[in-house]
Amino acid sequence: MTEIINIELSRLDSIEETAKIQRAADFIKEGKTVVFPTETVYGLGANGLDGVAVKKIFIAKGRPADNPLILHISDEKMLENIVTDISEAAKKLMKAFWPGPITLVLHKTGNVPDEVTAGLDTVAVRMPGHPIALRLISAAGKPVAAPSANISGKPSPTEASHVIEDLDNKVDMIIAANNSKIGLESTVIDMTLTPPVLLRPGGITKDQIEAIIGKIEIDKSITSRIQELEAVRSPGMKYRHYSPDAKMILVRGEKQNKIKKIIELADFNNAKGIKAVILATTENLDAFRGYEVLRLGASDDPEEIMANLYQCLRKCNSMKAGIILSEAFGEDELELAISNRLIRAAGYNVIEV
Ligand code: TXA
Ligand code: MG
Repeated sequence: MTEIINIELSRLDSIEETAKIQRAADFIKEGKTVVFPTETVYGLGANGLDGVAVKKIFIAKGRPADNPLILHISDEKMLENIVTDISEAAKKLMKAFWPGPITLVLHKTGNVPDEVTAGLDTVAVRMPGHPIALRLISAAGKPVAAPSANISGKPSPTEASHVIEDLDNKVDMIIAANNSKIGLESTVIDMTLTPPVLLRPGGITKDQIEAIIGKIEIDKSITSRIQELEAVRSPGMKYRHYSPDAKMILVRGEKQNKIKKIIELADFNNAKGIKAVILATTENLDAFRGYEVLRLGASDDPEEIMANLYQCLRKCNSMKAGIILSEAFGEDELELAISNRLIRAAGYNVIEV
C-alpha cells in the first residue's frame, strides 16, 4: 500500500504540513521509499546511507543495478560524510548554483554504499532547489538517494499524477505537490576529471558553468549515438530513456520544409490507420490545424518547452498515439537539454529536410 499525501506549498510552515514532512522523513529513517517533488522532476527517495533501503528503489523502478543514483543533500555539511577531495572548481559550482538543477560527480568516501554508486568510486551529489525536498532531507538528517520517480525507460514525472500512474503500490509514500517547474532532469557534470566533463545537459547550461570555472568538455554521448562510442562514462546514458510508447520521429530543417515533411508523414500514417500525434512549437500550431497536435511551447522560450516536454510525451501515451512526429531543436544553451531528451525518446530517429 502506498500512502499518498498532499502538501500545500503555500502552507509549508503550518503545523499540519510540517507534521506531514516529518512523517515522510521518519519513513526515510525507517528504510522506506518516499517519492518527493523537486524543481526538476519528482524523485524516488530512500536513505542514501542504507544499502538495503536503496535496493528498494531499484526494485520499484525496475532500474538496472549498474546505473548509479544521485545523493540529494540539504546542507553542504552533509558532504563531509560522503565525498572527499572536493576541487576548488567543484566548490565554485556549488556556491554558484546550489540549491539548484546541477549534479556534481565527486570522489566518494567508504560511507556511501555500493548500491548507490553501482560500485563506482565516485558519487553524484545534488542539493535540490525545492522547499519540500530540502525540508524532507533536512528532517531525515541524511542524504537521500533518488533517481527520477518513473518506471525505468519512461519519461520522468513532472506531476504527481505521473508518479501515481507509474509507482502506486510500488513505493511506501508519495508526496504530491505542485508540478515540477523545470521539467527536465538536472545537469550532471563529472568534477573528478580535468577538465570536468558534462555528462547530461539540464537546467544549468554549459555556458553558465564555463562562466564560473572555465572550459569544460561535453561527453560525446550527449550528441551522438551511444552505440558508436567505445566507453560509457555515465552508465545511465546507455539505456533507452524518456520513451513514449509509440515510435517517434524528429524532423529537423528550415520551418516550411519541416512543416511540409511532418504533414506528409502524418497523412501517410493516418491513411494507414496509424494515429499520428504532432509535437509542435506554438508558432507552428496553425500550420498543423486539423491534425492531432500537442503544444511544446514557443521556440524562443526553451524553458517553456522543457517544462512541457515530458507531459507531452506522456499525453501521447494516453492519446494512444501510433506515431509521434516532433519538430527537432538545436544544441545551444537550454536547447541542448531538450534535444538530448528528444533524440533519445525518438531512438535517434531524426529526418533532416
Ligand atoms: O534532476 C534530477 O537529477 C533528478 C531529481 C530527482 O533530482 N534525478 C535524476 O536521477 O534524474 P536519475 O537517476 O534518473 O539520473 C542520474 C544520472 C544517471 O544518468 C546516472 O547514470 C548518472 O546520473 N550518475 C549517477 N552517479 C554517477 C556517477 N558516479 N558517475 C557518472 N554518472 C552518474
Ligand atoms: Mg531517470
